[in-house]
Amino acid sequence: MTKYVIRGGKPLHGQVAVSSAKNAAVAILAGTVLAEGPCVIENLPKISDITVQLEILRRLGAKIEMLDDTTVRIDCTKLRSTKVLDDDLARANRASYYFIGALLGRYHTAQVCMPGGCNLGVRAIDQHLKGFEALGAAVSTKAGCVVTDARTGGLHGAHIYLDMPSVGATINIMLAAARAPGQTLIENPAKEPYIVDLANFLNTCGADIRGAGTDVIKIRGARTLHGCTYSVIPDMIEAGTFMAAVAACGGEITLTNVIPKHLDCFATKFMEMGVEMEDLGDAVLVRRIRPLTRTNIKTMPYPGFQTDMQPPAVVTLCLAAGTSIVNETIFNSRFRYLDELKRMGARVQADGQLAIIEGVSGLTGAPVQACDLRAGAALVIAGLAASGETEVSGIAHIERGYENFVEKLQSLGADIRRVEFPEPEELEVNA
Ligand code: EPU
Repeated sequence: MTKYVIRGGKPLHGQVAVSSAKNAAVAILAGTVLAEGPCVIENLPKISDITVQLEILRRLGAKIEMLDDTTVRIDCTKLRSTKVLDDDLARANRASYYFIGALLGRYHTAQVCMPGGCNLGVRAIDQHLKGFEALGAAVSTKAGCVVTDARTGGLHGAHIYLDMPSVGATINIMLAAARAPGQTLIENPAKEPYIVDLANFLNTCGADIRGAGTDVIKIRGARTLHGCTYSVIPDMIEAGTFMAAVAACGGEITLTNVIPKHLDCFATKFMEMGVEMEDLGDAVLVRRIRPLTRTNIKTMPYPGFQTDMQPPAVVTLCLAAGTSIVNETIFNSRFRYLDELKRMGARVQADGQLAIIEGVSGLTGAPVQACDLRAGAALVIAGLAASGETEVSGIAHIERGYENFVEKLQSLGADIRRVEFPEPEELEVNA
């Protein structure tokens, strides 16, 4: 079993280049299914969620060639299947379900096993299915898979109002509608930068998608899409995670490869806590030299405070003077990691969607377990800020979404190592 072993208590100093956005890249990779011609996707993050998307593409029959570490050439001109039936593969990330929209959009039929992803409570997909139906597809479930079929009447444009601005539903509907004849309107869509990045990619392939990032997305279905070369945007959540790390540990770092505008939704909160930020154009300087002060946070769809930044921000608030309240409005079970933080001396209490955090003067190292991706990153930050040694297990969750996390933190002066431990022996339980 591999764990991260951290000796905390050191401020962070230096410069780190942020990798590309996982949540944009996974959607764009699925989007290559729509293109009849090779796509070259640049700046892919080296994380396991990307490996899963590429493996699904390979099994569908796409020709895949890595041109270098972060650039892939994907040719979906001829696929041999419209089905993703490997349950383990589909469950290995959340974004496997983008192949429903993409295959439906290209071939008018798809069968894809239900996705996995972080366990954050209920993660319904009713809005995705509602969108597919509005576009003319019949939708059912079979053997743990979503089955969509529009082969009889074909797909057509539709007017779709989302009940909530779901990132996944917006992406899946955009993928299905990009080649559907007529006009599709998506009202109340998600506005996250990932949505804009996918629209930009599809438009570079010849699609006609306007309004991504606003309250209405307008899609004029293209008869066909061609290949293109496209570079994925930087990851705002990774940038925010490093901001939280500096906030918790103190020090001064420069984050390069960022789009500062994307960071406003949480950078302002860190500034309220006493962290200093300087916009350097395509980089941001983050400095924390004075004690942290409390604040309240409510997670919201973009441009509100991102739910993915909630766990790292909570760790920072654990070290801020005073009592803070965090209201998680996006997912109904995203506070499970608080029990792990308590092992480190945090004074935190969850009550439904609210967490109450009483700041403490310091955290102490402990063995802790990551239960999902961002919670895992938060525990690493807690370990970096704590006195003594912290062992973080469950790191596969973290490596789904953070590229070279350990190496990047080491370059900032953190004492963190990836250590192989022998598998624990099975416990004998006597009745
Ligand atoms: N929802 C529904 N019905 C739907 C779709 C969503 O009720 O059909 C609800 C969900 O249950 C949830 C809320 O709407 O309560 C928001 O869900 P959304 O669809 O926006 O989230 P997602 O697409 O499942 C993506 C990211 C998450 C990120 C959320 C919110 C990917 C692959 N995942 O998930 O990223 O937290 O948007 O921004 O893009 C992460 O990167 O760690 C991560 C969890």
